[in-house]
Amino acid sequence: MTDLDNGPAAHALAWLETLTDDPAMLPCGTSHRSVPAAEAIARVWPLRHRLGISRVADLTPLDVVGIPVFSVTRPNARTGQITLCQGKGNAPDEALASALFEALERHCGSLARPVLTAAPAELRARGRSHLGADDLGLAELPDDQPLEWIQGRDSGDGSAVLVPAAEVIFPYTAPPGCLRPVRPSTTGLASGATLSEAVLHALYEVVERDATSRYLHGGPGRLVPLDTITGPAESELLLKYAKAEIDTVVVDLTHTTVLPTFAVFLSDPGAHQAHLAVSGFGAHPNAGVALRRALTEAAQARATAIQGSREDLDRVADVYRADPAAQRSAFLHRALRARAEGVTDFRTLPDPPPRSTRAALRHVAAALEAGGYDRVVHTDLTIAELGLPVAHVVVPGMVDSVVEPLRSHRVAHQPVQA
Ligand SMILES: Nc1ncnc2c1ncn2[C@@H]1O[C@H](COP(=O)(O)OP(=O)(O)O)[C@@H](O)[C@H]1O
Ligand SMILES: [Mg+2]
Repeated sequence: MTDLDNGPAAHALAWLETLTDDPAMLPCGTSHRSVPAAEAIARVWPLRHRLGISRVADLTPLDVVGIPVFSVTRPNARTGQITLCQGKGNAPDEALASALFEALERHCGSLARPVLTAAPAELRARGRSHLGADDLGLAELPDDQPLEWIQGRDSGDGSAVLVPAAEVIFPYTAPPGCLRPVRPSTTGLASGATLSEAVLHALYEVVERDATSRYLHGGPGRLVPLDTITGPAESELLLKYAKAEIDTVVVDLTHTTVLPTFAVFLSDPGAHQAHLAVSGFGAHPNAGVALRRALTEAAQARATAIQGSREDLDRVADVYRADPAAQRSAFLHRALRARAEGVTDFRTLPDPPPRSTRAALRHVAAALEAGGYDRVVHTDLTIAELGLPVAHVVVPGMVDSVVEPLRSHRVAHQPVQA
């Protein structure tokens, strides 16, 4: 394992280091965080009415699996948003924190912000730094067509960088006469106890979606034999699925990206309901955490399907009516495809312990750089009166091609370093 504290001084997240007094990170089941889940809940709970939350529900008892899942309802969420936020974790307080902070993240990410309207050619003429077509994975960004821009920062040196508002704000509608260059989504949006922590978690999501969307479009992935997964927390989650007689496939995507990244697929042969065939994904510097994120997200997907209330379930309405046998064969096909591409012994993957926020920033910046991604642009979406950090992050070259298949990935196949 490398000594994280001796990283380079100038790196893609260096400016964030100057903002923080470097709080230590703690192990927190599905993440490393600077405050325990109970403390995080204590900070966000008093804001629940201002976030428009009308109900907080523990979904765990709805499913037989027993992995903690919570949901919070925001009935007045902006049109285009889902009114439910789900959260998951190894323990109930983590799952509740995840649901509440997702509500915070979605609230702050949906608010109208000051924008600059300009065509890329005008920005160039005025010397204003901005993201271009290549950064966004687009074939082109017409030079003379106006679009709305929002002020972000280069996370390496703090300099101003304009980012298309369509990339940052969700939901987003372009005003008449303005281009909407990308399909808006919440990929890259996250909250946290500090701005650095929010940026780190947004980065984990960007890495995860970039890698998993390539895999879901037919990219490579290796099977992880379950008997190589020996960490107590991951084993406990796997045991919960095994006891519920749910089959689990774990696909390793680590070799295709810059951090340990996994896709988990579940099949429930005992259930005569196709919608319980679900997936979950996770990326994190620590392989155990990344896998726990994917395993718990799959449980969240089951609970979401059982709850049946989330607006975006409309997109999978045909799955609800599908033949479970077809789902089962798709599951087996996926397992065999991954097996044919190779096998990862889980014990060989990096498992750095939580250290300080600064060490985490350096570790992630070094991993990005090793993969050929030398720049991170973040937009601080914190609402001062709420006082809890929210950020949106772009890693030029990384895209979520599930949201928009036409966006292209700038891929560097780099094995992660321990
Ligand atoms: N204990 C916590 N403290 C602060 N923020 C949290 C905590 N747990 C989760 N969050 C935030 O809540 C949102 C949802 O969390 P999670 O479900 O873990 O992430 P994801 O959306 O990547 O699957 C993210 O913005 C995450 O950073
Ligand atoms: Mg998220």
